[in-house]
Amino acid sequence: DWTMAAYRDEAIRQIREEVGDAKVICGLSGGVDSSVAAVLIHEAIGDQLTCVFVDHGLLRQGEADEVVAMFRDHYNIPLIHADERDLFLGELTGVSDPEVKRKTIGRLFIDVFQKHANDIDGASFLAQGTLYPDVIESVSFAGGPSVTIKSHHNVGGLPEKMGLKLVEPLRELFKDEVRALGRELGLPQSFIGRHPFPGPGLAIRCPGEITPEKLEILRKADAVFIDQIRRHGLYDEIWQAFVALLPVRTVGVMGDGRTYDYACAMRAVTSVDGMTADYYPFSHDFLGETATRIINEVRGINRVTYDVTSKPPGTIEWE
Ligand code: XMP
Repeated sequence: DWTMAAYRDEAIRQIREEVGDAKVICGLSGGVDSSVAAVLIHEAIGDQLTCVFVDHGLLRQGEADEVVAMFRDHYNIPLIHADERDLFLGELTGVSDPEVKRKTIGRLFIDVFQKHANDIDGASFLAQGTLYPDVIESVSFAGGPSVTIKSHHNVGGLPEKMGLKLVEPLRELFKDEVRALGRELGLPQSFIGRHPFPGPGLAIRCPGEITPEKLEILRKADAVFIDQIRRHGLYDEIWQAFVALLPVRTVGVMGDGRTYDYACAMRAVTSVDGMTADYYPFSHDFLGETATRIINEVRGINRVTYDVTSKPPGTIEWE
């Protein structure tokens, strides 16, 4: 009989066998997958593991601090915190095409990661939290011919470039199994239950050109939306929820003045593995209350919409 405890023990045994006494680098994104991979590998090989966390300036409110606090302070896992916000935002200035944005972020990520990884003497393995759906989604879509819908941001190509071998202990798992493994490893439920967050971060939730001002508005609106979802006890029923800031300003009234501010879209979906998704059927009361809070609490937004597109034909993210 197969249990997560047995899976964990077997995974640890395999990692030890594969890695021996070599050093391993793991890129932490703050998401569940890379976190579970890091903690699992740390259990297997201890301080032979160093994590690299690249802050590209496209994270949500408070996210960078949470990651550093959890890994460095709570788990005592050696962690390099690379604050590269200026670099990423600088290179993204004037870039509005979704694929160019993704590729720019992917390329910079690889450069930065490589730069910091070079400081770790003698590392010969790169750990990744690749899941089974990542493996198949990049090969085919909806059972059809091989089509690339979006270039996925991961460190693909990096292992060869750096002459590193890959360790991917989650390759056979689906998301719910990764969460079960995380619980088995003692990660806090608040962390394990977190919604997935894409590598390119808020960049793909801010269609068009990104600016620091737009990112700040987006972070605040997103935090209000998530707070609403938590207050109503809906967080765990939802696969992913976020706000996208639209590249359009609309006219509104506030008090006795006219406003001309951004519109945003709330997005929340249910899904099993991210490959198909349905929009979440919030009550009208919830939607109205949340829209009012966002407009009252976030300066810069005066109109809120709810995205009712399922996947397919929509994708979960806006870009
Ligand atoms: P889409 O938008 O393609 O997203 O329906 C499916 C799932 O994948 C996440 N996503 C990404 N995750 N790097 C990631 O690590 C990426 O480049 C990326 N793009 C999308 C998305 O958040 C959703 O969970």
